[in-house]
Amino acid sequence: MTMVRDTTASASGRPLIRTDLPFPGRREGKVRDIYSLTTEGKDPPRLLIIATDRISAFDVVLPTPIPGKGKLLGEISTRWFSFIRSLNLIGDHLLATDASDLGGLDAEQRSDLEGRVMICRAADVIPVEFVIRGYLAGAGWNAYAQSGSICGVRLPAGLRRAEKLAKPIFTPTTKAIAGHDEPMEYEQACAVAGRDVVDRLREVSLKIYTAGAEYALARGTILADTKFEFGYALDRDGRRTDELILIDEVLTPDSSRYWPVEAYEPGREQENFDKQFVRNYLQALVESGKWDKTPPGPELPREIVANTLARYVEVRDRLFGTS
Ligand SMILES: Nc1ncnc2c1ncn2[C@@H]1O[C@H](COP(=O)(O)OP(=O)(O)O)[C@@H](O)[C@H]1O
Ligand SMILES: [Mg+2]
Repeated sequence: MTMVRDTTASASGRPLIRTDLPFPGRREGKVRDIYSLTTEGKDPPRLLIIATDRISAFDVVLPTPIPGKGKLLGEISTRWFSFIRSLNLIGDHLLATDASDLGGLDAEQRSDLEGRVMICRAADVIPVEFVIRGYLAGAGWNAYAQSGSICGVRLPAGLRRAEKLAKPIFTPTTKAIAGHDEPMEYEQACAVAGRDVVDRLREVSLKIYTAGAEYALARGTILADTKFEFGYALDRDGRRTDELILIDEVLTPDSSRYWPVEAYEPGREQENFDKQFVRNYLQALVESGKWDKTPPGPELPREIVANTLARYVEVRDRLFGTS
């Protein structure tokens, strides 16, 4: 049972790059490792989702981990799940965050998993990412600058980069198995997931975004945009039920753009508490011909790693206080 780790010591514990645990159904997302947990047909199927310290940018997993990032993501996501529960809009997949109940692990494995674990209801995943934008940034800004609209949503002329939108908009993307997520129009999302479902989940996503953005703003942080994933809960026999649930991670700096409000100024790129810092570093490599956005990604220098981690810590501290 090897756990692959980086050898550099770090204040936030050993970096976790990859897990190899004695559970079936191992899958690897870009950032998280996923296993099936047996429920012996007594309960609906469960998943064990582990946030590693891997980081991806432009859909490429980089060779350098960000030590402690997985724990921060786990903490931020868990806090937001309880916030979202209090809104009473939709159920979610989160059952537990404690690795100590898992059988078959040794002490070292348990300690590696500390703070990184989500035990979840398994879902039949809807292959649409419910992207909500309150501000004009990233791919949304690029699309607007080219065409004046994003995912078929027409916007007024003359908006600046990072400008706040009159109201948040739904700009779905595909959920690609491999490669890049592509923008979808509302009608395409309906063709994939059904109009009633898209309408309901769009409303839920907009309400969560709006409540989350308000909470964040009161704590000095702009939640510029985010994406949600949903699925149908499974029954004891692993069959899909009609129950729609919120899955995956929620409102983390990996799935969202967060900006410090005191530095906010439309018309330019914003200071940020998310992956934009790493993207900017990589973009400079692309522009100087040193990388072409295909795997393998380049190693990150030490100061980029430290600075990226500091941003994740800062947003956690602003949103939920220091821990
Ligand atoms: N409750 C769930 N049931 C099934 N799949 C889930 C659930 N929650 C999250 N997932 C999936 O687990 C994966 C999480 O790993 P991640 O590293 O984020 O992968 P990705 O590279 O697809 O972003 C995602 O593909 C997500 O759709
Ligand atoms: Mg993901």
